[in-house]
Amino acid sequence: MGELIAILSGKGGTGKTSVCAGLATALAADGKRVLCIDCDVGLRNLDIALAMSDCGALTFLDVSSGAYELSQASEHPYYPGLFFLTAPTHCPPESIDRDQFGEFLWDAKREFDYILLDAPAGVDAGFRLTASFADRCILVTGSGPSSVRDVSRVGELLELMGKSNVRLIVNRVSHRMVGAMDTTVDDVMDAAGLPLLGVVPEDPNVTLAATHNRPLLMYSCRCPAALAVARISKRLQGVPVPISLR
Ligand SMILES: Nc1ncnc2c1ncn2[C@@H]1O[C@H](COP(=O)(O)OP(=O)(O)O)[C@@H](O)[C@H]1O
Ligand SMILES: [Mg+2]
Repeated sequence: MGELIAILSGKGGTGKTSVCAGLATALAADGKRVLCIDCDVGLRNLDIALAMSDCGALTFLDVSSGAYELSQASEHPYYPGLFFLTAPTHCPPESIDRDQFGEFLWDAKREFDYILLDAPAGVDAGFRLTASFADRCILVTGSGPSSVRDVSRVGELLELMGKSNVRLIVNRVSHRMVGAMDTTVDDVMDAAGLPLLGVVPEDPNVTLAATHNRPLLMYSCRCPAALAVARISKRLQGVPVPISLR
């Protein structure tokens, strides 16, 4: 059975979607079968980060409702083994049939090594739907105080939901902080009360790649953010790659 990973945060704009797309492409580049699902109902944009906007992807509701087969999910044009389902635009998360969604994810776990769910911002119905069935939760946060407060609250909510496999990615760590990095990342971990999965530096290539309609790892595979994401993907696969703070 594959592993279902939810990428979450309290805030919008912390980098969930970028990290989700980066991890998906890195895992696929390692030969894994990956299903990426945009769960940001109404504000979907994972297709942009994956450079799959032109693929006319089915929504996860198309498949979970039984109208289409999982085998009809769009395959990435450059990463064989990476498949994508987008979010419906006009369907409040509250109205999504949770049991049907869970059954669909269970089926997907038989077909894929990894299923990555890109969560919406906030902690309401969309968040709960995304987190409910996850085997592992990754919280993406910035290092500023308000991000950290949010992520620590989200960590508590996940604990209340019975989630124990929760890890933190500190994203957009800037060059100016590098000198004091150890302290900074330690502070974030302490404040959030969560173990660290990785650190991704601030890197303009993340936005440039999306602008040029290229996945980050294809646009610039040696740029700092791409290297960081590739290292995190190894850690997800159980390879003991040390956490680089640079
Ligand atoms: N490590 C990074 N360095 C620079 N820009 C980033 C980084 N991660 C994300 N971004 C940019 O931040 C913005 C929000 O990222 P996104 O992944 O959409 O966040 P979320 O899904 O949490 O709302 C996007 O413009 C994205 O290109
Ligand atoms: Mg997003």
